[in-house]
Amino acid sequence: MSPDIHFYEPAQGHGLPHDPLNAIVAPRPIGWIASRAADGALNLAPYSFFNAFNYRPPIIGFSSVGRKDSLNNIEQTGEFVWNLATRDLAEPMNRSSAAAPAEIDEFALAGLTPVASRIVGVPRVAESPVAFECRRSQIIRLQSAAGADIDAWLVLGEVVGVHIDRALLKDGIFDTAAARPILRGGGPTAYFEISPELAFHLRRPDYP
Ligand SMILES: Cc1cc2nc3c(=O)[nH]c(=O)nc-3n(C[C@H](O)[C@H](O)[C@H](O)COP(=O)(O)O)c2cc1C
Repeated sequence: MSPDIHFYEPAQGHGLPHDPLNAIVAPRPIGWIASRAADGALNLAPYSFFNAFNYRPPIIGFSSVGRKDSLNNIEQTGEFVWNLATRDLAEPMNRSSAAAPAEIDEFALAGLTPVASRIVGVPRVAESPVAFECRRSQIIRLQSAAGADIDAWLVLGEVVGVHIDRALLKDGIFDTAAARPILRGGGPTAYFEISPELAFHLRRPDYP
């Protein structure tokens, strides 16, 4: 046991003022997810337990901690749209996270414009420079190591349509930093913004 290491078993509590998990697994990309209820009501919410998991076909996913409107909608309709959250859209993205009832349209709440998608029946955020139209592929209820069901669901979708603002394509290469994506840090308020000077490059090693 090193006195320099704070060790804890999460099941027994972290013994710190705040759970450090979110600050350690950080910054996280944001899944800004548009969906539609079976009755047609629009929904938009950010999810930072989000990532991409495969190239071909492209699969992305997010985790709903608790049963939320996005999960219910995607279960019902099988469709959603991911939108890129950028620095310019940080405040509306945050407003769209309000715990509003299912019938409230967070596009309207956040002052954003829904624009029709090409393939799925869920609109994308017009103000966002990148959007993925998705079809639900799997919804997996998470379990503990002991096999107990947890109140969290991993929602996975195949990306079937991609919208990219051409201004972000430099000689055909998507310019990540130019989009100024925002990422979620730890605690209740922290975010990070990507800018070009943060980049560095590594090539994968050959073996042997
Ligand atoms: C940046 C950010 C990231 C969030 N990430 C998650 C997440 O990964 N999982 C989750 O369940 N809630 C997350 N939330 C909270 C949801 O956005 C919030 O509960 C929202 O009301 C859910 O909306 P819905 O019920 O319309 O799906 C996040 C909120 C913010 C602001």
